[in-house]
Amino acid sequence: MDIKVCIGSSCHLRGSYDIINLMKDALKENGLDETVGMSAAFCLGHCGDGVSIKVDDQVISGVTKENFNEIFSRYVLNTVN
Ligand code: FES
Repeated sequence: MDIKVCIGSSCHLRGSYDIINLMKDALKENGLDETVGMSAAFCLGHCGDGVSIKVDDQVISGVTKENFNEIFSRYVLNTVN
């Protein structure tokens, strides 16, 4: 699995740095930091929808600190387990 977090200017302003940190911690806590690759991406084409991430081929928009855990479980944990 490969995860990208958008750090384009729109997502950056909406807090993609926080999402990167949450993602790093969540991967580590779940023992996935060795197997799941995470990198930054420049603009995933959904600038108006909040912070966007890409999990393999799927783009998920509107990621916030508040809904991060739910999104992580649904798109990352559910898929790897
Ligand atoms: S800047 Fe993140 S989707 Fe465009």
